Amino acid sequence: MKTCSNRHSTQSLMFASLTAYLQDLQESGVDGIPTELMKVPETVIVPLQAAPFYPVGEKDVTSDTNLPASLESLEYIRKNLGDCQRCKLGATRKNLVFGSGNPKARLVFVGEGPGADEDAQGEPFVGDAGKILNRIIAAMELKREDVYICNVVKCRPPQNRPPESDEVIACSPFLLRQLQSVKPEVIVALGTSAAQALLQTKVPISKLRSKFHDYSGIPLMPTYHPSYLLRSGGNSDSFWSVWDDMTQVLQLLKLPVPNKSRKR
Ligand code: URA
Repeated sequence: MKTCSNRHSTQSLMFASLTAYLQDLQESGVDGIPTELMKVPETVIVPLQAAPFYPVGEKDVTSDTNLPASLESLEYIRKNLGDCQRCKLGATRKNLVFGSGNPKARLVFVGEGPGADEDAQGEPFVGDAGKILNRIIAAMELKREDVYICNVVKCRPPQNRPPESDEVIACSPFLLRQLQSVKPEVIVALGTSAAQALLQTKVPISKLRSKFHDYSGIPLMPTYHPSYLLRSGGNSDSFWSVWDDMTQVLQLLKLPVPNKSRKR
């Protein structure tokens, strides 16, 4: 399942992440690195632990991902973002929306970017699209606290337009670091922007959804964005398509698949 292009995209994201980190150091006044620190460090082996507080099944600690485990906490990454002005969205946002949920989640949902409600509250998916996402999570018999939820960009694009590529590029290192920190077993990309940014593709969501893709060894399921479902109605084909995608996610996580029947 691992593809060259995904390995390449992880490498470029890691490069971007390192560049952002070095820029941060430079901005905070560090103007050089002592030569003794430039020796290649010995590999640190971090013992993997099942997340004992995770309520729905055990985290699969044997899963073979090539996304390096991170020693960074989400709090550290958030602090590192600071009062972020790395792209033009920083100037117009009210609140930076970092992410919320279980820092050891087995399942991460990645959306596009904050809307007006999220911008006002500093929390992802708390507006109308959030109500739909809550219904999806509840239908999976999970709770919001079980999963981790974040976005491709952390600041609201004006008029809720899709994020532009320079904004996605500026924010990507932080998304990568969040995913490295949580290291979920499955990622769900909600909508075109998330799926295309994570998979580094221009293929439309209708063609990407319904099958797992590889994100550095982590299975990634693209599905329709909750806002799209809002526009298409509660019992629409697209709603059931999302349910089919979530059924596959539950099966992969070896969680029970609740029986849902379509009203005709
Ligand atoms: N849409 C998104 O993609 N993300 C949010 O947080 C809210 C709406």
